Amino acid sequence: KILILDFGSQYTQLIARRVREANVYCELHSFDVDAEFIREFNPVGIILSGGPASVTEDETPRAPQIVFELGVPVLGICYGMQTMASQLGGTVENALHREFGYAEVRAQGHSALLRDIQDRANEQGHGLLDVWMSHGDKVTALPEGFKVIASNAATAIAGMADEARRFYALQFHPEVTHSKQGKAIISRFVHEICGAAADWTMPNYVDEAVARVREQVGNDEVILGLSGGVDSSVVAALLHKAIGTQLTCVFVDNGLLRLNEAEQVMDTFARNLGVKVIHVDASAEFMKHLGGVTDPEQKRKIIGREFVEVFQRESAKLPNAKWLAQGTIYPDVIESAGAKTKKAHAIKSHHNVGGLPDTLHLKLLEPLRELFKDEVRELGVALGLPHEMVYRHPFPGPGLGVRILGEVKAEFADLLRRADAIFIEELRASGWYEKTSQAFAVFLPVKSVGVMGDGRTYEYVVALRAIQTQDFMTAHWAELPYSLLGKVSNRIINEVRGINRVVYDISGKPPATIEWE
Ligand code: XMP
Repeated sequence: KILILDFGSQYTQLIARRVREANVYCELHSFDVDAEFIREFNPVGIILSGGPASVTEDETPRAPQIVFELGVPVLGICYGMQTMASQLGGTVENALHREFGYAEVRAQGHSALLRDIQDRANEQGHGLLDVWMSHGDKVTALPEGFKVIASNAATAIAGMADEARRFYALQFHPEVTHSKQGKAIISRFVHEICGAAADWTMPNYVDEAVARVREQVGNDEVILGLSGGVDSSVVAALLHKAIGTQLTCVFVDNGLLRLNEAEQVMDTFARNLGVKVIHVDASAEFMKHLGGVTDPEQKRKIIGREFVEVFQRESAKLPNAKWLAQGTIYPDVIESAGAKTKKAHAIKSHHNVGGLPDTLHLKLLEPLRELFKDEVRELGVALGLPHEMVYRHPFPGPGLGVRILGEVKAEFADLLRRADAIFIEELRASGWYEKTSQAFAVFLPVKSVGVMGDGRTYEYVVALRAIQTQDFMTAHWAELPYSLLGKVSNRIINEVRGINRVVYDISGKPPATIEWE
């Protein structure tokens, strides 16, 4: 396995993704883990990520010295290259010329890392690479034993290597897709230079994960809060395969789910897979507590609190349960170096199934802890879950509660559910569902005047929202075809009595958020 040390770059998770796509298991840890941890981890290779700091300043992050003493190959990327250079006796300076974005670099000589990897060749037969640069500092003098392996006009040392010690470093970012040969470079490093076996594959993983769960829980019983979302669904399928009837799922219908969602969850899990699922219809209870509440944060809190309440009540009926399973995934677990230095601003409080274990006195079972979202999806498919469920857009924990502006009422939820279902159906039919990252309808509790037939109408408004994004931190509104929007609008107004106007949200994030509350 490969160890990635994170210096806080926004791209660090991409390094891990690329390594795993090369079928090699890797973990990402903060740069300041101690020597003992690294020795025990026993990596076949180490990658040092990029980061926002400057090695030219005092007290900025450095790699633990043991990284260069273990005798395993090391790849430094961007800041990782700079700290490697500086720690091994080279020089790093603030560049006059900062380089951001696309760049062309020339691969030099025959380094084991870049040999025969190129986008094209120049007249002298040197390989040229299209890469992504993002740096202010640069290495200006090589440490002893190193040679230049890549360069361009702006950055004379855009790559360096000490082939004897198998230390490699790149100023550009092979992990981003803009670096066209990045995948080949990372694959070269992990397979040929580190000698890592390509054994991280889904079929292998299923067997391994099943065995691990069996070993961990033995004959104990396990409870899982099943929401119908991707993560908890995959946990349910995995645990069902591993421990069958020792698993009981609790599915809470809070009255804020999408159209027919409860039936779909029960069909998929209880009827088709034979999973034990307790279906709790708590919608009346949720609606009662939400009555009269208009503040978005207050609504989120109530929904979160009610969920815990209902879940606790149900789990009390399963006194033999020893474990609480959760759909925690790797990005939730990673404590990035970035998060350590800057506290992300809390724009909205996110309530997911969580915060339960202390009060329940159950042990935590988190079988997806080491997987990225796309690996979770692959696992879901490998376990036989329907493609449509596994590749569904994300749905917030508070559900329609944050898509009904202001006070939540059962009547509004019903209207919204039907409008939303029409929108999603048309997106799927037109092939746009896969081209958008998230799409939904929002209920606006304002009435406007319309005319239908010969009559005047005075009814509610629905807004449609469809966005495209990589990370949900920033997002573009989707440029859906007018014909599609027209069809959706027509159908909603004709089929959902109570709505006479449909608008399309054309706000990006930032400054708007994806959800309206
Ligand atoms: P925003 O609205 O913050 O949404 O741009 C970003 C992503 O997070 C989802 N979201 C939530 N998910 N509980 C959740 O589990 C929440 O309270 C919540 N609020 C927003 C949103 O759907 C989008 O994918």
